[in-house]
Amino acid sequence: MDNDIAEVLFDRKSIQEQAERIGRQISADYAGRKPLVLSVLKGAYLWTADLIREIDLYVDLEFIKISSYHGGMESSNEIQLITDIRSDVRGRDVIIMEDIVDTGQSLEYLETLLNDRGAHSVQVATLLDKKGGRTVDIAADYVGFDVRNEFVVGYGLDYQGLYRNLPYVGILKQSVYS
Ligand code: IMP
Ligand code: MG
Repeated sequence: MDNDIAEVLFDRKSIQEQAERIGRQISADYAGRKPLVLSVLKGAYLWTADLIREIDLYVDLEFIKISSYHGGMESSNEIQLITDIRSDVRGRDVIIMEDIVDTGQSLEYLETLLNDRGAHSVQVATLLDKKGGRTVDIAADYVGFDVRNEFVVGYGLDYQGLYRNLPYVGILKQSVYS
C-alpha cells in the first residue's frame, strides 16, 4: 500500500498528539457530565478508538452508519441512514466523532437527526477538516488537522473501500486513479 502513496500528510505520532490535545480539551469542557460519543462508521472508528482513550470521563459509546459516498471521490448529496443507534439521545450531550468534514452534509444530517430526537447538545470532533469543500454552513467544534481540498486516504479513510488500515493520512498517487 505504501507504494500507492504520493505524500504522507499526518503520521501516527502527530495524530496521537491531536487525540491527546482534543481528549484533554473534551475532558475539561464536559467535566461532571457523561457524554454520549457517537462514532460515524466506517471512517471514524480508528480516530474514535484513539480519542476516547484520551477522554477522562464516563462516556457512552454508540456507532451510527451513514452513507454519503459511493466508494469514489465525490460526496453525494443524498445521505442514507444505514445502521441506526438503539439508545435514546433525549437530554444527552452528544459528541459526534468523524473522520473528515468535507461538504458538511453528513454532519448537517446527523445534527438535525440528533436535535430532532431531543439531544441536549451536539458537538463534533473530527480528525480532519476540509473547509474548502463546504457546501453547507456548518463547523466542527474540535479539529485535529485542516486539510486542503484534495482527496486523502488512510487512518480510517478509504478509496473504493481500501486504505482504511494505513497508519497515517496521505494522498494517493495519480496512477492509482487511472
Ligand atoms: P461530507 O461531504 O462532509 O458529507 O463528508 C462525507 C464523508 O465523505 C466523510 O465522512 C468521509 O467519510 C468522506 N470523505 C470526504 N472527503 C474524503 C476524502 O478526502 N477521503 C476519503 N473520504 C472522504
Ligand atoms: Mg465518514
